[in-house]
Amino acid sequence: MSSSCSGLSRVLVAVATALVSVSSSCPQAWGPPGVQYGQLGRSVMLCCPGVAAGTLVSWFRDGEPRLLQGPASGQGHTLVLAQADTSDAGTYICRTLDGAVRGTVTLHLGYPPARPVVSCQASDYENFSCTWSPGQVNSLPTCYLTSYRKKTVPGDDDQRMNSSAGPWLCPQDPPGTARCAVHGAEFWSQYRINVTEVNPLGASTRLMDVSLQSILRPDPPQGLQVEPIPGYPRRLLASWKYPTSWPHQPHFLLKFRLQYRPVQHPAWSTVEPVGLEEVITDAVAGLPHIVRVSARDFLDAGTWSAWSPEAWGTPSTGPLPEEILAGGQQPVGDQPQLKPESQLQAGSFTPPRPSLQPAPQPLDHRVPLEQVAMLMSLGILSFLGLVAGSLVLGLW
Ligand SMILES: *[C@@H]1O[C@H](CO)[C@@H](O)[C@H](O)[C@H]1NC(C)=O
Ligand SMILES: *[C@@H]1O[C@H](CO)[C@@H](O)[C@H](O)[C@H]1NC(C)=O
Repeated sequence: MSSSCSGLSRVLVAVATALVSVSSSCPQAWGPPGVQYGQLGRSVMLCCPGVAAGTLVSWFRDGEPRLLQGPASGQGHTLVLAQADTSDAGTYICRTLDGAVRGTVTLHLGYPPARPVVSCQASDYENFSCTWSPGQVNSLPTCYLTSYRKKTVPGDDDQRMNSSAGPWLCPQDPPGTARCAVHGAEFWSQYRINVTEVNPLGASTRLMDVSLQSILRPDPPQGLQVEPIPGYPRRLLASWKYPTSWPHQPHFLLKFRLQYRPVQHPAWSTVEPVGLEEVITDAVAGLPHIVRVSARDFLDAGTWSAWSPEAWGTPSTGPLPEEILAGGQQPVGDQPQLKPESQLQAGSFTPPRPSLQPAPQPLDHRVPLEQVAMLMSLGILSFLGLVAGSLVLGLW
């Protein structure tokens, strides 16, 4: 069905030749010599290979003695089939007046390309890929030319593009799959993708405007784990990692959405943790819980990822581990998630904090965020103060 586009310029030339000149020797289209293509429902002209233009020939279907068109038809070395239908596909033979077989022609029938259906997706912040499917089912050999260019002015729809804006090839990797990938794209730029379907009957182009910010959809977080916290019958500690397709980079962070429910309950509870772990403080004691997590660009570009595979955990039922009850050797202030009010929920007895021994947290943005929020509110306060001050002055 699909073939390599390597000889494509030749094909396009051949298509053009077929349209322009029919009187000279036969145009060579795709595929082996002696293969010709025609459009279903239209008149199709076959050409006897190996004879000079205008040579008188007779035409037969291969293996049938019945004469289709005699030399007196006035068509020279061509055979015209009006309104070709599927029964016209097959092999034809042309003979010169001396009865010698001069050539065989195998006719394939189909339709000119239709505009392909294209969609693009990105699972990280600098690469995206586009996939496509035929706009119309076609039995002719088909290939796709894929390119892209950068739109120089975002939102500008006319064709003003400068030379540094492409077009560049959008490589199909592996070849033959209906997918091409753009690497190293700029997050804030607009790109125009050109997917052109080409077959022996012509070409048809779909243009599509794409920006990474709108198509971004991270892969789900990975390595979700749910652990009991010894001594806390209503708590679970969930932790997860960035998807491997999202390399850590300070300017492109992910935020997360965590859902959990007891196995028996249909309704999920949702929280939006900031870091890579969350302490669930209202678990139902003794019941196994299901937890799942999804990710999104920190600044709300694109959409939420799919949910991660679910992980299960049951809150601890045993007492506090003895070493914690015995000694205060665990540093306190280790777990910012353990808020005082939630400790009260754990029971009338409020034990010292157990050691969570959390995995290293390379991307806990809590502290910088709080600082930013603090700075911003300080800024707003001082601004308000200034405004009030100048108002008072003005009134004075
Ligand atoms: C983009 O793709 C390139 C090549 O596959 C890869 O090396 C790079 O890490 C990708 N970028 C991101 C942000 O994932
Ligand atoms: C799309 O790509 C085709 C094939 O490369 C090319 O002939 C055509 O000019 C392109 N169209 C636009 C609008 O860039």
